[in-house]
Amino acid sequence: MLKNDIRQIATVLASESATGKTTVGGWIRTRRDAKGFTFLEINDGSCLKNLQVVVTEGTPAFAAMGEANNGAAVMIGGQLVESPGQGQKWELKAETLTVFGFADQENYPLQKKRHTDEFLRGIAHLRARTNKYGAMLRIRAEAAQAAHNYLRSEGFRYVHAPILTGSDAEGAGEMFRVTTLPLGYQPPNPANPYDEDFFGRESNLTVSGQLEAEALALGLGRVYTFGPTFRAENSNTARHAAEFWMIEPEAAFYDLEDNMELAENLTRAVAWYVLENCQEDLDLFNRFVDAGLMDRLKQLAMGGYDRISYREAVKILQQSGRRFEHPVDFGTDLSTEHERFLAEEHFKGPVTVYNYPKAIKAFYMRDNDDGTVAAMDLLVPRIGELIGGSQREERLDRLEGRIADMGQNIDNYWWYLDLRRYGTVPHSGFGLGFERLIMLITGISNIRDVLPFPRTPRSLEF
Ligand code: 4AD
Ligand code: MG
Repeated sequence: MLKNDIRQIATVLASESATGKTTVGGWIRTRRDAKGFTFLEINDGSCLKNLQVVVTEGTPAFAAMGEANNGAAVMIGGQLVESPGQGQKWELKAETLTVFGFADQENYPLQKKRHTDEFLRGIAHLRARTNKYGAMLRIRAEAAQAAHNYLRSEGFRYVHAPILTGSDAEGAGEMFRVTTLPLGYQPPNPANPYDEDFFGRESNLTVSGQLEAEALALGLGRVYTFGPTFRAENSNTARHAAEFWMIEPEAAFYDLEDNMELAENLTRAVAWYVLENCQEDLDLFNRFVDAGLMDRLKQLAMGGYDRISYREAVKILQQSGRRFEHPVDFGTDLSTEHERFLAEEHFKGPVTVYNYPKAIKAFYMRDNDDGTVAAMDLLVPRIGELIGGSQREERLDRLEGRIADMGQNIDNYWWYLDLRRYGTVPHSGFGLGFERLIMLITGISNIRDVLPFPRTPRSLEF
């Protein structure tokens, strides 16, 4: 089936005169019957724009169209001509028309009116056919491409970390267990409950590809993973999903400073790329979702990024005069209200907070010997934490001590410790929450609406 998509047609027609035949396949968005003609608005998902199709009464195309209406899938061949009507420059005069799938108007869930986000979540299998979710999914794809392009241009190789793991990369105990044993299974030998399980040991879905990325960075120099990660944290917020995608660069011979710079530049590069490549879709979000979107994106792409130590951040929060739900003191883990205050109100833009207290951060972060570790979080307006990372503890004895202090089983980390035993080197990396980035870029305020099929507590429909 040889055909053009509407995006290609729109691009060609913007510069050339409308000649020639074309064939498009898509879904009818609206049907308007007039005297002697029917007008169809077709959308094929390639871009936000619809193509207007004119079907003349009495033609074979008209007969083939039948009752096809909103939601029906059609393929239409014909001649592109200048449109005499308002609202579009070109239209397609149908010569051939095939209806592949009718959509019963009474029951088709996507009626022409504007639906709420909550309603559309319940029909996630159909929402890609709406303007808003079509635009979000295209921006999501472009943003992923932008991240690949940027990291590649900086010499980072795309590597793939396993999804099934035996270790808890964050040590936070928020893992989904993986087992092939039946529900209610009683191990015959309670001393080794995993004896008859698939791997013969405990296994989980990964919470982060970091530990494996570190191993690969200590061979390839600069790597990044970009894959799904899973967390069983039962926090039903607009910023947490049980399955989300993370971009995790990891680089040998990188210190905290290098790491912060990479995090800022990656964020800049993605903002820049979508501004250049997703204008039409971004405009939709700027008009209907978040009026400040374009300004924020331009600031992200071109503006400065602030940096402050955790100690300074605490001082700012304490002196803000703001009454936070959770008061702040040195040693407090910052929560979203603090992070948003810093980015949104104090700095009015992205800010990286570094050198957090050791007690509130993961075991692998490099000890600064002053009660802090070389951690960094990039905070952005509206979201709070977008990126979390650190310089890694590359000294064997320190790392062993840290794992033991945190009550982790050192045997699980033998290979991770080997990296410090043989040819260890200062290295750093971070994780960028891809959904949070898409929320930032589109203005969408709930993580459930930037994931094609969101997984959150008590929700796994599709
Ligand atoms: O700060 P986190 O937990 O860091 C790590 O996992 C490190 N191992 C990353 C690294 O250094 N390679 O998570 C990183 C980012 C967060 O800043 C946040 O944007 C996102 O992942 N994130 C989530 N996004 C959606 N839903 C959740 N439940 C998330 N948890 C973290
Ligand atoms: Mg974090």
